[in-house]
Amino acid sequence: MHEPTAFGTAFGTAFGPDFVWGAATSAYQIEGAVSEDGRSPSIWDTFSRVPGAVDGGDTGDIACDHYHRWPEDIGVMRELGLGAYRFSIAWPRVLPQGGGPVNPAGLAFYDRLVDGLLEAGITPYPTLYHWDLPQVLQDRGGWPERDTAERFAEYAAVVSAALGDRITQWTTLNEPLCSAWIGHLDGDMAPGWKDLTAAVRASCHLHLAHGLGVQAIRANVPGAEVGLVNIHSPCDPASDRDEDVAAARRADGHLNRWWLDPIHGRGYPQDMIELYGVDLPLRDGDLRTIAEPLDWLGVNYYFRQVLTADPEGPAPYARQIDPPGASHTAMGWEVSPDGLERMLVRVAEDYAPQRILVTENGAAYADTVTPEGAVHDAERTAYLETHLEACARAARRGVPLDGYFAWSLLDNFEWAYGYDKRFGLVHVDYTTQARTMKDSGRRYAEIIRAHRQAVADRGTVPSVPS
Ligand code: IFM
Repeated sequence: MHEPTAFGTAFGTAFGPDFVWGAATSAYQIEGAVSEDGRSPSIWDTFSRVPGAVDGGDTGDIACDHYHRWPEDIGVMRELGLGAYRFSIAWPRVLPQGGGPVNPAGLAFYDRLVDGLLEAGITPYPTLYHWDLPQVLQDRGGWPERDTAERFAEYAAVVSAALGDRITQWTTLNEPLCSAWIGHLDGDMAPGWKDLTAAVRASCHLHLAHGLGVQAIRANVPGAEVGLVNIHSPCDPASDRDEDVAAARRADGHLNRWWLDPIHGRGYPQDMIELYGVDLPLRDGDLRTIAEPLDWLGVNYYFRQVLTADPEGPAPYARQIDPPGASHTAMGWEVSPDGLERMLVRVAEDYAPQRILVTENGAAYADTVTPEGAVHDAERTAYLETHLEACARAARRGVPLDGYFAWSLLDNFEWAYGYDKRFGLVHVDYTTQARTMKDSGRRYAEIIRAHRQAVADRGTVPSVPS
């Protein structure tokens, strides 16, 4: 364990004075109130009711009840000393029909939340799409259809017109990889399909939606800073055998290059187009739209992948193996802070985004609340510290790293794993809805304070978010 002040002070020299310290959540995972104030069902309301789709039959119906408890949750953010809060807006609250008439009551929730954040000195970082597609659009074909991208542009225009007077930092999509590959190819997330053609078509339309969304936001919000949030993993071969090296290269195409190349103006990687063998549903000009320049790139990181060839498996014919000696979180994910440093350096070197934010990073572990009301989550605390150290090393190697958002502010609905997997810096008792700061949350608060102090001691006062 590091001495608290020295640890945070070390970041004072690696991270700039305006380094953004944040935490992240998403709408379906925390809000609950799924039938309130005119919200229509999303694909996750549907999917979570499919028998066997979600552990324990859990749904997001109540979740953390953040829809009603947001003032208390802003209090928790203040306690942590957050400078920024990354949350998502529920499309089915704002446009219950997917497009067309706006639901003022749905928008009003985010209006209140944004005002509350600003009052608390916390910069809002909304994400427009974190996987809760209105079911009505799924009924018309969902992301494999171009119309969904066009409806997203309409939705982005509505939200940015309503909140753009107070929000400068915008994110179009969270982890389009998961929507396309896990939702349409693996079938483990909504809408639960296993169809390569649909998955590839969905990936292109998600990218198109992103590009159209960037244009809509910029048209409404002068000075907006817009980013896209991807999830990335370094892909290491399990051995130096040619088959494993080739498998790792294919996995890298599937998990990293497919998601980075087109948004950086390089089109889709040719080796992967050939491997998928699916006609891309793109029209003239789409690749230009997809490559709308970004103000920042969000990188979500949880683990690296170690791969061996799997000719019988689904695309990309590469299977993840468990490296000997690895330690794991409760998700079974390898703890590998070095993978975060490598991924950040690689993205910076290969794609040169203007700025990078680590928009999610965190770990699930089984937590217990002691009779004294504490949560001693030493493993999560170590995960946080070692991954922040990895960020600092990347920054010292020249990565333009401007911020870090811990996943997650609160324990929440972990998709197909339900409520069993806890990622929060703050524990949620789902029976009473009591929030309890975990040791990792206290540690994060200390680190943030120490960084701010180190910056102030160097004579550069960190800017206060407005
Ligand atoms: O909970 C998710 C989040 O919604 C998206 N990124 C990964 C997290 C942990 O699985």
